[in-house]
Amino acid sequence: HLVASLEVEQTYIMVKPDGVQRGLVGEIISRFEKKGFKLTGLKLFQCPKELAEEHYKDLQSKPFFPKLIQYITSGPVVCMAWEGVGAVASARKLIGATNPLQAEPGTIRGDLAVQTGRNVVHGSDSPENGKREIGLWFKEGEICDWIPVQEPWLR
Ligand code: TYD
Repeated sequence: HLVASLEVEQTYIMVKPDGVQRGLVGEIISRFEKKGFKLTGLKLFQCPKELAEEHYKDLQSKPFFPKLIQYITSGPVVCMAWEGVGAVASARKLIGATNPLQAEPGTIRGDLAVQTGRNVVHGSDSPENGKREIGLWFKEGEICDWIPVQEPWLR
């Protein structure tokens, strides 16, 4: 089994085109916010083919690769960077199994999706890939390393 990481990690989370089209952006962002991770990057973005291919380069030889690239580039995605202790594995747990029919209820895919090829959200699979993917999808200046403060915002 996985030993939970105590390291502060960065993970790249993305609402895929089906999640945007189905109006699930707020719901998905909310799950990571409520968990307690810190949002450090966020944008709506139409992904060019070359970037999709680079992002999924480890899957290049898979039979589903062309369909995957077509899907990811079919409409805007919501790109996010999230930071937190053990954020990579924890986000993967919140997201659930790749095949939504096998994803546990309570997970994003388990609650909101049906098909592997339309599984609404992406999450980095390692801290190394978290850094790599944030570097791919965000430009310098688009990531905010902010410090949470205790202010009486509502008074
Ligand atoms: P993968 O990295 O294996 O899964 P995950 O997104 O859970 O990390 O695969 C990347 C995406 O490729 C996956 O989210 C959906 C798509 N995919 C298919 O379309 N068919 C498949 O058989 C697999 C394994 C993945």
